[in-house]
Amino acid sequence: MEANLPKRKETRKSLRIKVISMGNAEVGKSCIIKRYCEKRFVPKYLATIGIDYGVTKVQIRDREIKVNIFDMAGHPFFYEVRNEFYKDTQGVALVYDVGQKESFDALDSWLAEMKQELGPHGNMENIVFVVCANKIDCTKHRCVDESEGRLWAESRGFLYFETSAQTGEGINEMFQTFYSAIVDLCDNGGKRPTSSMSVGFTKEQADTIRRIRNSKDSWDMLGVKPGATRDEVNKAYRKLAVLLHPDKCVAPGSEDAFKAVVNARTALLKNIK
Ligand code: GTP
Ligand code: MG
Repeated sequence: MEANLPKRKETRKSLRIKVISMGNAEVGKSCIIKRYCEKRFVPKYLATIGIDYGVTKVQIRDREIKVNIFDMAGHPFFYEVRNEFYKDTQGVALVYDVGQKESFDALDSWLAEMKQELGPHGNMENIVFVVCANKIDCTKHRCVDESEGRLWAESRGFLYFETSAQTGEGINEMFQTFYSAIVDLCDNGGKRPTSSMSVGFTKEQADTIRRIRNSKDSWDMLGVKPGATRDEVNKAYRKLAVLLHPDKCVAPGSEDAFKAVVNARTALLKNIK
């Protein structure tokens, strides 16, 4: 006979996590953190010297989370100071300024710096990354649009949020989702749950869309040499059409990329005998 034992109350351990901020100088990393933790915005630029450290407590679902935030200086000068803080991190906020293309293009080199510091045994797969497209209040100067940023982030399995530390837009949602994903990761034994990694499109599709956007002319867009034959143009076109056809590809920006490829092919074929 089964003993009628009193049910043990579910006590869930409070969690302690470490997150870091990364991204070029002046993109707004410190302001994003300040907006979330202190609910205020400082318009004057005060460069972070090396690293800033803070602890904050947050409630995620039924859990109390103690978050250790390491806010990194973006300036290359501080590399020697920040490089030792990459290890044992569960979450990374990767920030760029939507009005500064270089800060968006630099995201890859930030990932490379982290990878290098973690060494050959470091594992970036089981870290939650959130990409913050910051300063969306500066609409006049915006030069990296949402689909481009989202594509870069989601093709890598990263979260993506549009934020403004100035107005506060997107900040709370970003941190709640970010911390929630870290809690899921911890509950999953430190492994990123597979569901958060499937975005419905491949990295090849995302990289191709990005390449098409940045191509300098129609030859470049189709990936053929200037002076290529009709056959070569058609072959390159078919390959891209299969990859990007809107019926098959759900990556952000695929429809525009597909249209651009169709137009590039038409323009080139007009001039090839
Ligand atoms: P480093 O510490 O040097 O790496 O820079 P950071 O990325 O921490 O930048 P910081 O948060 O200090 O902000 C840089 C400048 O951008 C400051 O003048 C901020 O007031 C301004 N700034 C930050 N976020 C926003 C934003 O969302 N909108 C606008 N308009 N300005 C912002
Ligand atoms: Mg800073």
